[in-house]
Amino acid sequence: MLLKDTASGQVYIKLVIIMDRSDFMKKLSSGIAVTAFLPVFTFCNSNSRTSIPEGSYNVNNAFNPDVDVELSAIRNNIQVLSGDKTGVYSYTLKVLKADNATVENLPGSWLGPVFRVKQGQKIRVRFKNQLPRESVIHWHGLHIPPEMDGHPMYAVDNGEQYVYEFEVNNRPGTYWFHPHPDKITGPQVYQGLAGMFIVEDNENHLPTGEYDIPIIIQDRIFDGNNQLVYLQNNQMSQVQGLLGDRIVVNGNPDNKLPVSKSTYRFRMLNGSNARIYKLAWSDGSDVIVIGTDGGLLPQPERKSYVMLAPGERIEIWKDFSAMNTDDNVLLQSLPFNDGTSMGMGGGMMGGGMMGGGMMQAAGPANGTGFDICAFTATSERGERKSLPSAFQNISSIPESEAVNAASPRQFRFYNQHMQWVINGETFGMKEVADWEKVRLNTTEIWEFINGDSGRGMGMMQDMMQMPHPVHLHGLQFQIVERDVSEMQQAVWETVKDGFIDNGWQDTFLLLPGMKVKIALKFEDYTGIYVYHCHNLEHEDMGMMRNFEVLE
Ligand code: C2O
Ligand code: CU
Ligand code: CU
Repeated sequence: MLLKDTASGQVYIKLVIIMDRSDFMKKLSSGIAVTAFLPVFTFCNSNSRTSIPEGSYNVNNAFNPDVDVELSAIRNNIQVLSGDKTGVYSYTLKVLKADNATVENLPGSWLGPVFRVKQGQKIRVRFKNQLPRESVIHWHGLHIPPEMDGHPMYAVDNGEQYVYEFEVNNRPGTYWFHPHPDKITGPQVYQGLAGMFIVEDNENHLPTGEYDIPIIIQDRIFDGNNQLVYLQNNQMSQVQGLLGDRIVVNGNPDNKLPVSKSTYRFRMLNGSNARIYKLAWSDGSDVIVIGTDGGLLPQPERKSYVMLAPGERIEIWKDFSAMNTDDNVLLQSLPFNDGTSMGMGGGMMGGGMMGGGMMQAAGPANGTGFDICAFTATSERGERKSLPSAFQNISSIPESEAVNAASPRQFRFYNQHMQWVINGETFGMKEVADWEKVRLNTTEIWEFINGDSGRGMGMMQDMMQMPHPVHLHGLQFQIVERDVSEMQQAVWETVKDGFIDNGWQDTFLLLPGMKVKIALKFEDYTGIYVYHCHNLEHEDMGMMRNFEVLE
Protein backbone atom coordinates (compact mmCIF):
# COMPACT_ATOMS: atom_id res chain seq x y z
CA MET A 1 0.00 0.00 0.00
CA LEU A 2 1.11 3.53 -0.60
CA LEU A 3 0.62 6.23 1.94
CA LYS A 4 0.09 9.73 0.66
CA ASP A 5 1.44 12.96 1.96
CA THR A 6 -1.79 14.82 2.38
CA ALA A 7 -0.19 18.24 2.04
CA SER A 8 1.50 17.86 -1.31
CA GLY A 9 -0.50 14.99 -2.70
CA GLN A 10 2.77 13.28 -3.50
CA VAL A 11 3.21 9.65 -2.74
CA TYR A 12 5.69 9.96 0.03
CA ILE A 13 5.84 6.72 1.95
CA LYS A 14 6.43 3.54 0.07
CA LEU A 15 6.68 1.12 2.97
CA VAL A 16 3.79 -1.26 3.35
CA ILE A 17 2.80 -0.75 6.92
CA ILE A 18 1.52 -3.85 8.67
CA MET A 19 0.84 -2.26 12.05
CA ASP A 20 1.29 1.02 13.88
CA ARG A 21 -0.39 2.63 10.94
CA SER A 22 -2.49 5.16 12.74
CA ASP A 23 0.42 6.44 14.76
CA PHE A 24 2.50 6.84 11.68
CA MET A 25 -0.26 8.57 9.75
CA LYS A 26 -0.50 11.08 12.55
CA LYS A 27 3.12 12.01 12.06
CA LEU A 28 2.62 12.26 8.35
CA SER A 29 -0.31 14.58 8.52
CA SER A 30 1.59 16.88 10.82
CA GLY A 31 3.96 17.47 7.94
CA ILE A 32 7.50 16.33 7.46
CA ALA A 33 10.20 18.70 6.35
CA VAL A 34 12.37 17.25 3.64
CA THR A 35 15.98 18.27 3.79
CA ALA A 36 18.27 17.81 0.86
CA PHE A 37 21.38 15.82 1.58
CA LEU A 38 24.36 18.09 1.86
CA PRO A 39 27.24 16.62 -0.11
CA VAL A 40 29.67 18.55 2.00
CA PHE A 41 28.85 17.50 5.50
CA THR A 42 29.52 20.33 7.86
CA PHE A 43 30.68 18.62 11.02
CA CYS A 44 34.05 19.86 12.05
CA ASN A 45 36.88 17.74 10.81
CA SER A 46 38.76 16.32 13.74
CA ASN A 47 41.96 16.61 11.73
CA SER A 48 43.59 14.10 13.94
CA ARG A 49 44.51 11.67 11.24
CA THR A 50 48.16 10.95 11.44
CA SER A 51 50.60 8.11 11.10
CA ILE A 52 49.51 6.56 7.82
CA PRO A 53 51.75 3.51 7.88
CA GLU A 54 54.72 3.93 5.59
CA GLY A 55 54.04 2.12 2.33
CA SER A 56 50.27 2.07 2.57
CA TYR A 57 50.01 4.71 -0.11
CA ASN A 58 51.76 2.37 -2.50
CA VAL A 59 51.76 -1.29 -3.34
CA ASN A 60 54.17 -3.52 -1.56
CA ASN A 61 56.09 -5.33 -4.27
CA ALA A 62 56.88 -8.22 -1.99
CA PHE A 63 53.17 -8.96 -1.68
CA ASN A 64 51.99 -11.26 -4.43
CA PRO A 65 48.20 -10.95 -4.67
CA ASP A 66 45.69 -13.46 -6.03
CA VAL A 67 43.17 -10.66 -6.29
CA ASP A 68 44.25 -7.16 -7.23
CA VAL A 69 41.61 -4.52 -7.77
CA GLU A 70 41.22 -0.80 -7.84
CA LEU A 71 38.23 0.61 -5.96
CA SER A 72 37.51 4.27 -6.46
CA ALA A 73 34.95 6.01 -4.29
CA ILE A 74 33.22 8.47 -6.57
CA ARG A 75 30.14 10.63 -6.78
CA ASN A 76 27.80 9.32 -9.39
CA ASN A 77 24.32 9.80 -10.84
CA ILE A 78 22.37 6.63 -11.41
CA GLN A 79 18.85 5.68 -12.39
CA VAL A 80 17.24 4.39 -9.21
CA LEU A 81 13.67 5.59 -9.58
CA SER A 82 11.87 6.58 -12.73
CA GLY A 83 12.45 10.20 -13.66
CA ASP A 84 15.43 12.09 -12.29
CA LYS A 85 18.64 10.23 -11.66
CA THR A 86 19.80 9.95 -8.07
CA GLY A 87 23.10 11.37 -6.85
CA VAL A 88 24.96 8.64 -4.98
CA TYR A 89 28.40 7.60 -3.87
CA SER A 90 29.72 4.40 -5.41
CA TYR A 91 32.78 2.22 -5.41
CA THR A 92 33.77 1.78 -9.03
CA LEU A 93 35.74 -1.31 -9.78
CA LYS A 94 38.69 -2.11 -11.97
CA VAL A 95 39.84 -5.71 -11.80
CA LEU A 96 43.57 -6.01 -12.39
CA LYS A 97 43.83 -9.63 -11.38
CA ALA A 98 41.42 -12.20 -9.94
CA ASP A 99 42.84 -15.72 -9.90
CA ASN A 100 40.26 -18.26 -8.76
CA ALA A 101 38.06 -15.47 -7.46
CA THR A 102 35.45 -13.08 -8.77
CA VAL A 103 34.83 -9.44 -8.08
CA GLU A 104 31.68 -8.21 -9.75
CA ASN A 105 29.40 -5.25 -9.67
CA LEU A 106 25.76 -5.56 -8.74
CA PRO A 107 24.32 -4.25 -12.00
CA GLY A 108 22.50 -0.95 -11.80
CA SER A 109 23.07 -0.59 -8.08
CA TRP A 110 24.85 2.03 -6.00
CA LEU A 111 26.26 -0.78 -3.89
CA GLY A 112 29.85 -1.79 -4.21
CA PRO A 113 31.09 -4.95 -5.86
CA VAL A 114 30.67 -8.45 -4.49
CA PHE A 115 33.96 -10.19 -3.79
CA ARG A 116 33.95 -13.98 -3.90
CA VAL A 117 37.30 -15.17 -2.65
CA LYS A 118 38.75 -18.20 -0.91
CA GLN A 119 40.51 -18.78 2.35
CA GLY A 120 44.24 -18.26 2.06
CA GLN A 121 44.02 -15.92 -0.90
CA LYS A 122 45.95 -12.68 -0.88
CA ILE A 123 43.93 -9.59 -1.62
CA ARG A 124 45.11 -6.17 -2.73
CA VAL A 125 42.67 -3.29 -2.98
CA ARG A 126 43.94 0.04 -4.25
CA PHE A 127 41.47 2.47 -2.78
CA LYS A 128 41.28 5.83 -4.53
CA ASN A 129 39.27 8.47 -2.76
CA GLN A 130 37.48 10.83 -5.12
CA LEU A 131 34.89 11.96 -2.61
CA PRO A 132 34.70 15.52 -1.31
CA ARG A 133 35.69 14.32 2.15
CA GLU A 134 38.18 11.88 3.66
CA SER A 135 37.35 8.19 3.62
CA VAL A 136 38.71 4.77 4.47
CA ILE A 137 37.55 1.21 3.78
CA HIS A 138 36.77 -1.10 6.66
CA TRP A 139 36.57 -4.87 6.06
CA HIS A 140 33.80 -5.73 8.47
CA GLY A 141 34.32 -9.10 10.11
CA LEU A 142 37.75 -9.87 8.71
CA HIS A 143 40.65 -10.86 10.92
CA ILE A 144 43.42 -8.70 9.46
CA PRO A 145 46.18 -6.39 10.78
CA PRO A 146 45.07 -3.06 12.30
CA GLU A 147 46.55 -0.92 9.53
CA MET A 148 44.53 -2.87 6.95
CA ASP A 149 41.28 -2.82 8.92
CA GLY A 150 40.10 0.69 8.06
CA HIS A 151 40.50 2.44 11.40
CA PRO A 152 39.40 6.10 11.05
CA MET A 153 43.00 7.22 11.71
CA TYR A 154 43.94 5.79 8.30
CA ALA A 155 41.40 7.80 6.32
CA VAL A 156 42.76 9.44 3.17
CA ASP A 157 41.67 12.69 1.59
CA ASN A 158 40.23 13.42 -1.80
CA GLY A 159 42.75 12.51 -4.48
CA GLU A 160 44.71 10.18 -2.23
CA GLN A 161 45.20 6.43 -2.36
CA TYR A 162 45.45 3.78 0.34
CA VAL A 163 46.50 0.26 -0.52
CA TYR A 164 45.00 -2.60 1.45
CA GLU A 165 46.90 -5.86 1.33
CA PHE A 166 45.84 -8.81 3.41
CA GLU A 167 45.46 -12.54 3.42
CA VAL A 168 42.00 -14.02 3.90
CA ASN A 169 42.17 -16.13 7.02
CA ASN A 170 38.55 -16.02 8.12
CA ARG A 171 36.20 -18.97 8.00
CA PRO A 172 34.16 -19.12 4.82
CA GLY A 173 31.24 -16.76 5.33
CA THR A 174 29.55 -13.50 4.44
CA TYR A 175 31.53 -10.40 5.34
CA TRP A 176 31.23 -6.88 3.99
CA PHE A 177 33.03 -3.57 3.58
CA HIS A 178 32.11 0.06 3.98
CA PRO A 179 33.65 3.46 4.80
CA HIS A 180 34.72 4.27 8.35
CA PRO A 181 35.87 7.92 8.56
CA ASP A 182 35.45 9.58 11.94
CA LYS A 183 32.03 11.28 12.32
CA ILE A 184 30.94 10.77 8.70
CA THR A 185 30.53 7.01 8.33
CA GLY A 186 26.73 7.29 8.45
CA PRO A 187 26.35 9.70 5.50
CA GLN A 188 28.93 7.90 3.35
CA VAL A 189 27.31 4.50 3.79
CA TYR A 190 23.91 6.09 3.29
CA GLN A 191 24.99 7.63 0.00
CA GLY A 192 25.79 4.17 -1.33
CA LEU A 193 29.17 2.92 -0.19
CA ALA A 194 28.96 -0.71 0.88
CA GLY A 195 29.75 -4.07 -0.67
CA MET A 196 29.88 -7.74 0.16
CA PHE A 197 32.98 -9.80 0.79
CA ILE A 198 32.16 -13.49 0.53
CA VAL A 199 34.66 -16.12 1.54
CA GLU A 200 33.51 -19.18 -0.36
CA ASP A 201 33.30 -22.66 1.02
CA ASN A 202 33.39 -26.04 -0.67
CA GLU A 203 29.95 -27.06 0.58
CA ASN A 204 28.70 -28.50 -2.70
CA HIS A 205 25.53 -29.73 -1.05
CA LEU A 206 24.51 -26.08 -0.62
CA PRO A 207 23.02 -23.99 -3.43
CA THR A 208 25.75 -22.40 -5.55
CA GLY A 209 26.12 -20.11 -8.52
CA GLU A 210 22.86 -18.42 -9.47
CA TYR A 211 21.23 -19.97 -6.37
CA ASP A 212 23.64 -18.29 -3.96
CA ILE A 213 22.48 -14.69 -3.74
CA PRO A 214 23.38 -11.62 -1.68
CA ILE A 215 20.43 -9.77 -0.19
CA ILE A 216 21.52 -6.39 1.16
CA ILE A 217 18.69 -4.66 2.99
CA GLN A 218 18.75 -0.90 3.46
CA ASP A 219 16.26 1.89 4.10
CA ARG A 220 16.40 5.26 2.42
CA ILE A 221 14.46 8.50 1.98
CA PHE A 222 14.08 10.05 -1.46
CA ASP A 223 12.85 13.58 -1.98
CA GLY A 224 10.53 14.73 -4.77
CA ASN A 225 13.51 15.00 -7.13
CA ASN A 226 14.64 11.45 -6.42
CA GLN A 227 17.55 12.62 -4.29
CA LEU A 228 18.60 10.85 -1.12
CA VAL A 229 17.67 12.70 2.04
CA TYR A 230 19.99 12.42 5.04
CA LEU A 231 19.57 13.74 8.55
CA GLN A 232 19.70 17.38 9.31
CA ASN A 233 22.97 18.42 10.74
CA ASN A 234 21.98 18.59 14.34
CA GLN A 235 22.56 16.44 17.32
CA MET A 236 18.96 15.56 17.99
CA SER A 237 18.43 13.85 14.67
CA GLN A 238 21.55 11.81 15.23
CA VAL A 239 20.40 10.63 18.64
CA GLN A 240 17.98 8.26 17.00
CA GLY A 241 19.84 7.37 13.82
CA LEU A 242 18.63 7.46 10.26
CA LEU A 243 15.37 5.63 9.65
CA GLY A 244 14.25 5.63 6.03
CA ASP A 245 10.73 5.34 4.70
CA ARG A 246 11.55 3.11 1.77
CA ILE A 247 13.26 -0.26 1.60
CA VAL A 248 15.88 -0.95 -1.02
CA VAL A 249 17.22 -4.43 -1.62
CA ASN A 250 20.64 -4.63 -3.28
CA GLY A 251 20.29 -0.94 -4.06
CA ASN A 252 17.09 -1.56 -5.97
CA PRO A 253 13.82 0.01 -4.79
CA ASP A 254 11.62 -2.40 -6.80
CA ASN A 255 11.57 -4.87 -3.95
CA LYS A 256 10.94 -7.75 -6.34
CA LEU A 257 13.21 -10.69 -6.97
CA PRO A 258 12.29 -13.33 -9.54
CA VAL A 259 13.31 -16.82 -8.46
CA SER A 260 13.12 -20.17 -10.18
CA LYS A 261 11.40 -23.10 -8.51
CA SER A 262 14.59 -24.09 -6.77
CA THR A 263 16.50 -24.04 -3.53
CA TYR A 264 18.38 -20.86 -2.65
CA ARG A 265 21.04 -19.72 -0.27
CA PHE A 266 20.45 -16.09 0.61
CA ARG A 267 23.27 -14.14 2.22
CA MET A 268 21.42 -11.39 4.02
CA LEU A 269 23.14 -8.28 5.26
CA ASN A 270 21.46 -5.52 7.20
CA GLY A 271 23.29 -2.61 5.57
CA SER A 272 20.98 0.00 7.07
CA ASN A 273 22.26 2.82 9.22
CA ALA A 274 19.89 2.33 12.15
CA ARG A 275 16.97 0.10 11.19
CA ILE A 276 16.54 -3.31 12.81
CA TYR A 277 14.58 -6.02 11.00
CA LYS A 278 12.50 -8.88 12.37
CA LEU A 279 12.66 -11.11 9.32
CA ALA A 280 9.92 -13.60 8.49
CA TRP A 281 8.29 -15.24 5.48
CA SER A 282 4.74 -14.29 4.56
CA ASP A 283 3.84 -17.94 3.85
CA GLY A 284 4.29 -18.69 7.54
CA SER A 285 7.14 -21.08 6.96
CA ASP A 286 10.10 -21.01 9.29
CA VAL A 287 13.16 -18.97 8.49
CA ILE A 288 15.85 -21.62 8.09
CA VAL A 289 19.12 -20.06 9.18
CA ILE A 290 22.30 -21.82 8.14
CA GLY A 291 24.87 -19.14 8.90
CA THR A 292 25.66 -16.02 10.91
CA ASP A 293 28.31 -13.27 10.71
CA GLY A 294 31.24 -15.65 10.80
CA GLY A 295 29.98 -18.46 8.56
CA LEU A 296 27.91 -21.62 8.76
CA LEU A 297 26.26 -22.72 12.01
CA PRO A 298 26.93 -26.21 13.39
CA GLN A 299 23.44 -27.08 12.18
CA PRO A 300 20.53 -25.24 10.55
CA GLU A 301 18.17 -23.48 12.95
CA ARG A 302 14.47 -23.09 12.24
CA LYS A 303 13.04 -19.83 13.50
CA SER A 304 9.62 -18.26 13.22
CA TYR A 305 11.51 -14.98 12.75
CA VAL A 306 15.06 -13.65 13.02
CA MET A 307 16.24 -10.32 14.40
CA LEU A 308 18.83 -8.68 12.14
CA ALA A 309 20.53 -5.54 13.45
CA PRO A 310 22.63 -3.10 11.38
CA GLY A 311 25.93 -4.72 10.41
CA GLU A 312 24.77 -8.29 11.04
CA ARG A 313 24.52 -11.05 8.44
CA ILE A 314 22.59 -14.29 8.32
CA GLU A 315 22.50 -16.97 5.69
CA ILE A 316 19.10 -18.39 4.90
CA TRP A 317 18.02 -21.54 3.13
CA LYS A 318 14.82 -21.23 1.11
CA ASP A 319 13.09 -23.73 -1.11
CA PHE A 320 10.71 -22.28 -3.71
CA SER A 321 10.22 -25.54 -5.58
CA ALA A 322 6.61 -26.04 -4.49
CA MET A 323 5.50 -22.64 -5.76
CA ASN A 324 3.31 -21.99 -8.77
CA THR A 325 4.52 -19.72 -11.54
CA ASP A 326 3.95 -16.04 -10.69
CA ASP A 327 3.20 -16.77 -7.05
CA ASN A 328 4.81 -14.54 -4.44
CA VAL A 329 6.40 -15.11 -1.10
CA LEU A 330 7.18 -11.95 0.82
CA LEU A 331 10.14 -11.39 3.05
CA GLN A 332 8.71 -9.21 5.79
CA SER A 333 9.83 -7.33 8.83
CA LEU A 334 7.30 -8.04 11.57
CA PRO A 335 6.31 -5.49 14.20
CA PHE A 336 8.23 -5.54 17.47
CA ASN A 337 8.96 -3.35 20.44
CA ASP A 338 12.57 -2.14 20.30
CA GLY A 339 12.47 -0.72 23.81
CA THR A 340 13.31 2.81 22.75
CA SER A 341 12.45 5.41 25.33
CA MET A 342 13.43 9.00 24.89
CA GLY A 343 12.53 10.20 28.35
CA MET A 344 11.46 13.80 27.97
CA GLY A 345 7.88 13.50 29.11
CA GLY A 346 7.90 9.75 28.92
CA GLY A 347 6.74 7.30 26.37
CA MET A 348 8.15 6.35 23.06
CA MET A 349 9.14 8.86 20.46
CA GLY A 350 9.19 7.36 17.06
CA GLY A 351 10.78 8.40 13.79
CA GLY A 352 10.16 11.92 12.68
CA MET A 353 9.41 13.21 16.11
CA MET A 354 12.84 14.32 17.21
CA GLY A 355 14.43 17.69 17.01
CA GLY A 356 12.85 19.76 19.74
CA GLY A 357 9.73 20.44 17.73
CA MET A 358 11.53 20.75 14.42
CA MET A 359 10.35 17.90 12.28
CA GLN A 360 12.99 15.79 10.65
CA ALA A 361 12.59 13.74 7.55
CA ALA A 362 12.35 10.20 8.82
CA GLY A 363 10.60 6.95 8.23
CA PRO A 364 8.58 4.86 10.64
CA ALA A 365 10.02 4.00 14.03
CA ASN A 366 12.09 0.89 14.55
CA GLY A 367 9.69 -1.96 15.22
CA THR A 368 7.14 -0.93 12.62
CA GLY A 369 6.16 -3.84 10.41
CA PHE A 370 6.39 -3.75 6.60
CA ASP A 371 7.23 -5.85 3.56
CA ILE A 372 10.85 -5.97 2.44
CA CYS A 373 10.86 -7.91 -0.79
CA ALA A 374 8.65 -10.14 -2.93
CA PHE A 375 10.11 -13.35 -4.32
CA THR A 376 8.14 -14.26 -7.42
CA ALA A 377 8.39 -17.72 -8.97
CA THR A 378 9.24 -17.85 -12.64
CA SER A 379 8.21 -20.81 -14.76
CA GLU A 380 11.73 -22.16 -14.63
CA ARG A 381 12.44 -25.25 -12.58
CA GLY A 382 16.02 -25.15 -11.34
CA GLU A 383 18.22 -27.02 -8.99
CA ARG A 384 16.60 -28.55 -5.94
CA LYS A 385 18.68 -29.54 -2.94
CA SER A 386 17.88 -31.00 0.41
CA LEU A 387 18.81 -29.29 3.62
CA PRO A 388 21.87 -30.80 5.28
CA SER A 389 21.29 -31.77 8.90
CA ALA A 390 24.66 -30.49 10.08
CA PHE A 391 27.68 -28.47 9.05
CA GLN A 392 31.12 -28.27 10.52
CA ASN A 393 31.13 -28.33 14.28
CA ILE A 394 32.02 -25.14 16.14
CA SER A 395 34.00 -25.82 19.26
CA SER A 396 33.05 -23.34 21.90
CA ILE A 397 35.67 -21.25 23.57
CA PRO A 398 35.83 -22.63 27.13
CA GLU A 399 35.01 -19.93 29.67
CA SER A 400 37.67 -21.38 31.93
CA GLU A 401 40.27 -20.43 29.33
CA ALA A 402 39.47 -16.74 29.86
CA VAL A 403 41.98 -14.82 31.94
CA ASN A 404 39.15 -12.74 33.42
CA ALA A 405 36.41 -15.37 33.71
CA ALA A 406 35.81 -14.43 37.36
CA SER A 407 35.32 -10.73 36.63
CA PRO A 408 34.64 -9.97 32.98
CA ARG A 409 35.34 -6.48 31.63
CA GLN A 410 32.11 -4.56 31.50
CA PHE A 411 31.09 -2.17 28.73
CA ARG A 412 28.00 -0.09 29.45
CA PHE A 413 26.27 1.49 26.47
CA TYR A 414 24.03 4.34 27.54
CA ASN A 415 23.06 7.96 27.11
CA GLN A 416 24.63 10.68 29.16
CA HIS A 417 23.60 14.28 28.66
CA MET A 418 22.24 13.68 25.16
CA GLN A 419 25.39 11.84 24.18
CA TRP A 420 25.68 8.09 23.51
CA VAL A 421 28.64 6.77 25.48
CA ILE A 422 30.53 3.58 26.34
CA ASN A 423 31.42 3.48 30.03
CA GLY A 424 30.89 7.24 30.05
CA GLU A 425 33.39 7.89 27.24
CA THR A 426 33.18 8.85 23.59
CA PHE A 427 35.61 8.24 20.74
CA GLY A 428 39.07 9.74 20.70
CA MET A 429 41.13 8.90 17.63
CA LYS A 430 43.95 7.13 19.47
CA GLU A 431 42.57 7.08 22.95
CA VAL A 432 42.81 3.76 24.73
CA ALA A 433 41.89 3.53 28.39
CA ASP A 434 43.46 0.99 30.71
CA TRP A 435 40.23 -0.98 30.66
CA GLU A 436 40.60 -1.29 26.88
CA LYS A 437 44.04 -2.91 26.84
CA VAL A 438 44.36 -6.65 26.35
CA ARG A 439 47.20 -9.10 25.81
CA LEU A 440 47.97 -10.98 22.63
CA ASN A 441 47.20 -14.70 22.82
CA THR A 442 44.75 -14.41 25.67
CA THR A 443 41.08 -15.28 25.89
CA GLU A 444 38.68 -12.95 27.69
CA ILE A 445 35.03 -12.62 28.57
CA TRP A 446 33.52 -9.21 27.87
CA GLU A 447 30.13 -8.19 29.13
CA PHE A 448 28.07 -5.59 27.31
CA ILE A 449 25.25 -3.87 29.16
CA ASN A 450 22.62 -1.62 27.63
CA GLY A 451 21.93 0.97 30.30
CA ASP A 452 23.57 2.41 33.34
CA SER A 453 21.11 1.35 36.00
CA GLY A 454 22.34 0.96 39.52
CA ARG A 455 25.33 3.21 39.07
CA GLY A 456 25.58 6.88 39.88
CA MET A 457 23.01 8.88 38.00
CA GLY A 458 21.68 5.67 36.47
CA MET A 459 18.01 6.35 36.71
CA MET A 460 18.25 9.75 35.11
CA GLN A 461 20.47 8.59 32.29
CA ASP A 462 18.43 5.53 31.55
CA MET A 463 15.40 7.64 30.80
CA MET A 464 16.81 7.69 27.30
CA GLN A 465 17.35 4.20 25.98
CA MET A 466 17.74 2.65 22.58
CA PRO A 467 18.89 -0.61 21.05
CA HIS A 468 22.61 -0.74 20.21
CA PRO A 469 24.07 -3.20 17.71
CA VAL A 470 27.49 -3.85 19.26
CA HIS A 471 30.37 -4.55 16.88
CA LEU A 472 34.04 -5.35 17.42
CA HIS A 473 36.67 -5.03 14.72
CA GLY A 474 39.34 -7.51 13.81
CA LEU A 475 37.92 -10.74 15.17
CA GLN A 476 34.96 -13.08 15.48
CA PHE A 477 33.62 -13.95 18.92
CA GLN A 478 31.12 -16.28 20.54
CA ILE A 479 28.10 -15.27 22.58
CA VAL A 480 28.21 -17.09 25.90
CA GLU A 481 25.20 -15.56 27.65
CA ARG A 482 22.29 -13.27 26.85
CA ASP A 483 20.83 -12.10 30.15
CA VAL A 484 17.37 -10.55 29.73
CA SER A 485 16.36 -10.48 33.38
CA GLU A 486 16.45 -6.68 33.50
CA MET A 487 14.68 -6.14 30.21
CA GLN A 488 11.12 -4.98 29.96
CA GLN A 489 8.98 -8.05 29.46
CA ALA A 490 6.89 -6.21 26.87
CA VAL A 491 10.00 -5.72 24.75
CA TRP A 492 11.47 -9.18 25.18
CA GLU A 493 8.22 -10.95 24.33
CA THR A 494 8.26 -9.45 20.84
CA VAL A 495 11.82 -10.45 19.95
CA LYS A 496 12.71 -13.46 22.07
CA ASP A 497 12.60 -16.12 19.35
CA GLY A 498 14.77 -14.16 16.95
CA PHE A 499 18.31 -14.60 18.29
CA ILE A 500 20.89 -17.05 17.03
CA ASP A 501 23.74 -17.31 19.48
CA ASN A 502 25.39 -20.57 18.42
CA GLY A 503 27.70 -19.33 15.71
CA TRP A 504 30.58 -16.92 15.23
CA GLN A 505 29.60 -13.26 15.45
CA ASP A 506 31.17 -9.86 15.04
CA THR A 507 27.97 -7.89 15.72
CA PHE A 508 25.03 -8.52 18.03
CA LEU A 509 21.90 -6.69 19.08
CA LEU A 510 21.93 -5.27 22.60
CA LEU A 511 18.42 -4.16 23.54
CA PRO A 512 17.65 -1.85 26.46
CA GLY A 513 18.22 -3.68 29.73
CA MET A 514 19.98 -6.58 28.01
CA LYS A 515 23.35 -7.94 29.12
CA VAL A 516 25.43 -10.03 26.73
CA LYS A 517 28.62 -11.89 27.56
CA ILE A 518 30.96 -12.83 24.75
CA ALA A 519 34.13 -14.92 24.64
CA LEU A 520 36.93 -13.64 22.46
CA LYS A 521 40.55 -14.41 21.68
CA PHE A 522 43.20 -11.91 20.68
CA GLU A 523 45.38 -13.59 18.14
CA ASP A 524 47.99 -12.83 15.47
CA TYR A 525 47.99 -9.02 15.49
CA THR A 526 48.88 -6.35 17.98
CA GLY A 527 47.64 -2.79 17.73
CA ILE A 528 44.53 -0.67 17.88
CA TYR A 529 41.07 -1.66 16.66
CA VAL A 530 37.75 0.03 17.24
CA TYR A 531 34.59 -1.37 18.76
CA HIS A 532 31.35 0.55 18.51
CA CYS A 533 27.63 0.76 18.14
CA HIS A 534 26.70 -0.10 14.53
CA ASN A 535 23.83 2.35 14.54
CA LEU A 536 25.98 4.50 12.29
CA GLU A 537 24.69 7.78 13.66
CA HIS A 538 25.53 6.62 17.18
CA GLU A 539 28.97 5.66 15.94
CA ASP A 540 29.42 9.06 14.33
CA MET A 541 28.35 10.74 17.58
CA GLY A 542 31.18 8.95 19.32
CA MET A 543 29.67 5.69 20.60
CA MET A 544 32.92 4.08 19.59
CA ARG A 545 36.18 3.34 21.40
CA ASN A 546 39.53 1.74 20.73
CA PHE A 547 40.84 -1.47 22.21
CA GLU A 548 44.51 -2.27 22.02
CA VAL A 549 46.09 -5.67 21.72
CA LEU A 550 49.48 -5.53 23.41
CA GLU A 551 52.37 -7.88 22.86
CU1 C2O B 1 30.74 -2.37 9.92
CU2 C2O B 1 33.24 -0.47 12.42
O1 C2O B 1 31.96 -1.40 11.22
CU1 CU C 1 33.52 -3.79 11.37
CU1 CU D 1 23.68 2.74 19.50
